[in-house]
Formats: sequence, structure tokens, C-alpha cells
Amino acid sequence: NTKTIGIVVGSLRKESFNKKVAHFLTTVAPQNLTFQTIEIGDLPLYNQDFDEEGSPESYIRLRKEIKALDAILFVTPEYNRSVPGVLKNALDAASRPYGQNAWQGKPAAVVSVSIGNISGFGANHHLRQSLAYLDMPTMPQPEMYLGDIANNLDEQGNFKDPKTIEFLTSFMDAFANWINKF
Ligand code: FNR
Repeated sequence: NTKTIGIVVGSLRKESFNKKVAHFLTTVAPQNLTFQTIEIGDLPLYNQDFDEEGSPESYIRLRKEIKALDAILFVTPEYNRSVPGVLKNALDAASRPYGQNAWQGKPAAVVSVSIGNISGFGANHHLRQSLAYLDMPTMPQPEMYLGDIANNLDEQGNFKDPKTIEFLTSFMDAFANWINKF
């Protein structure tokens, strides 16, 4: 039973470590998972007037894409100990108009990635707070905090340490099992 997972990355940067990690995760995932990258960089800042006056095309596209997915994998950096604005904006954009939350019921997993040693803990957990409100069953364990990322990836964006690769593989196996519960 094939499942389609939307990948939402909280960084727009061309050389983003988060983008590299997101790609690496797709390479260690079980065969029955297929992946689709969800674009969030083209979304104007959410304005509640949109809900009465009409939403931007990019919002309509985003909501439609999310509704068609089986699950969502969030891979995010931490900005100032929280979720980057671009990611929070995407959560808000697809959560409305009121009563039409596109995220509702979609199983999710969270990966945080940082160049530092706290490994995006703040972003990881602030994101989980929003996902709970959005009614997204979010995999509690294993957690995935990837720190010191600049030293852990090689030139091709692959993880160097076999133990880390093993852990990332088991994380994706656990996520596949998690999705099957819903
Ligand atoms: C950061 N960075 C950062 N790192 C961290 O661990 N905790 C933090 O609170 C912050 N805060 C922060 C704010 C802003 C505005 C920027 C631009 C950066 C550093 C961050 O981990 C680093 O830039 C990563 O490389 C971002 O991920 P991408 O873009 O490589 O995927």
C-alpha cells in the first residue's frame, strides 16, 4: 500500500542543510513511501481578509496538494529558538478558512536540523504545539534532532556516520508504521 508523503521544509535557502536532509531521508525510506515536495516559498503573508475576499492562487494550490496527501514530513531549521516564519505562514495559510483546515487528520513527523548543538529543539517543539492544534497526529517517538549538521554531511549531502544513517533509516521505518495507524 503506497503512501504519498508531502515534505515541507522550513528553509528557502538554495544550499539549505534542511533541504539536503529532507532529500537524504527519502533515500532511506521504505519502498512503499513516495514523496512530494510542498512549495511554501511563494505564499504571501497570511491575511484573514483573504478568507472573505478570496485567497491567492498559491494558497488554493497548497490546500489542494495537502488534502491529497497521506502524511506530512516536516524538516525545519530553528530561527531564534522557534519555527521560521515561512513555515508558520504555511501552517496558517492551509489551516483556513475556518472549518476548512487542510492539515486536519494528516499524520506527521518532525525533524529539526541545526548547525548548533541544541539541534533545533525549540523549533521542533514549537512546531509540535501548532500541529496538535491543527489536529495532526504527530509521531512522538523516535524524535529526530540533527545538530552540528555542517560537519555531519559530506559534499553530496549524505550523512557520514553509519550509526546516524541507521538511526535515520529506523526513523523512516517508524514513520511508515505510524502512518499505517491512521
Ligand atoms: C539561525 N540559526 C539558528 N540555529 C539554531 O540552532 N537556533 C536558533 O535559534 C537559530 N536562529 C537563527 C535565526 C536566523 C534568522 C537564522 C538565519 C539562522 C542558524 C541556523 O541553524 C542555520 O542558519 C541553518 O543553516 C539554517 O538551516 P538551512 O537554511 O541550512 O536549512
